Amino acid sequence: MSVSYMTHPLIRHKITLLRKENTSTNEFRKLVEEIAMLMGYEALSDLETKDITVKTPIEESVQPVISGKKLAVVPILRAGLGMVNGILALVPSARVGHIGLYRDPQKLTNRTNITASSPDPIDQRQIVVVDPMLATGGSAIAAVDFIKKHGGQKIKFMSIIAAPEGVDALMKAHPDIQLYVGCLDRELNENAYICPGLGDAGDRIFGTK
Ligand code: PRP
Ligand code: URA
Repeated sequence: MSVSYMTHPLIRHKITLLRKENTSTNEFRKLVEEIAMLMGYEALSDLETKDITVKTPIEESVQPVISGKKLAVVPILRAGLGMVNGILALVPSARVGHIGLYRDPQKLTNRTNITASSPDPIDQRQIVVVDPMLATGGSAIAAVDFIKKHGGQKIKFMSIIAAPEGVDALMKAHPDIQLYVGCLDRELNENAYICPGLGDAGDRIFGTK
């Protein structure tokens, strides 16, 4: 697996704003979408292109357009939903699947799959799984397990903030995927929250709690 850490100052700046506890729900949502778009720009830099002929007002010309595997964005519910529009702003024709996972606060390693839907033909698509937080890695591993079980082969995973524990666990479980991390934080606390992190991403995006 390859892991890419974002170094672009705009991405790092926006992640810093995201962390602040007094960032409003509205601003938080906007920032998650913008960061997803900026990270998506980096993560999709290897999209295949093919040449087509276009007629400009001046002359005919051969120019590149995106080709190859069609893209599918797969958010992990809930918080991953906040990143979808950022990717769709780059690739409006992308399909969207969903994976619903619940992280049991008592038994942090347990995951319940609430809902799942995948765009066909999944085996021919470039899948981009999105979730702002990669903490223990349990949700990410379960999501990629699910996608692979249903035939997904080319998988990228984007998380805005990750803990070293989550990166290691995901790397070990799925060495063939490409991981993109906005910022690698210090560690997990005793409740498996990322430190310094940003708190509960789902609650902050949807204004719950
Ligand atoms: C959060 C987050 C990830 C998961 C990361 O979701 O959005 O999906 O925790 O933690 P992990 O790496 O230890 O699995 P949560 O289960 O809190 O649900 P939510 O998105 O509905 O808030
Ligand atoms: N999920 C979150 O939303 N935040 C964390 O810090 C860890 C898991």
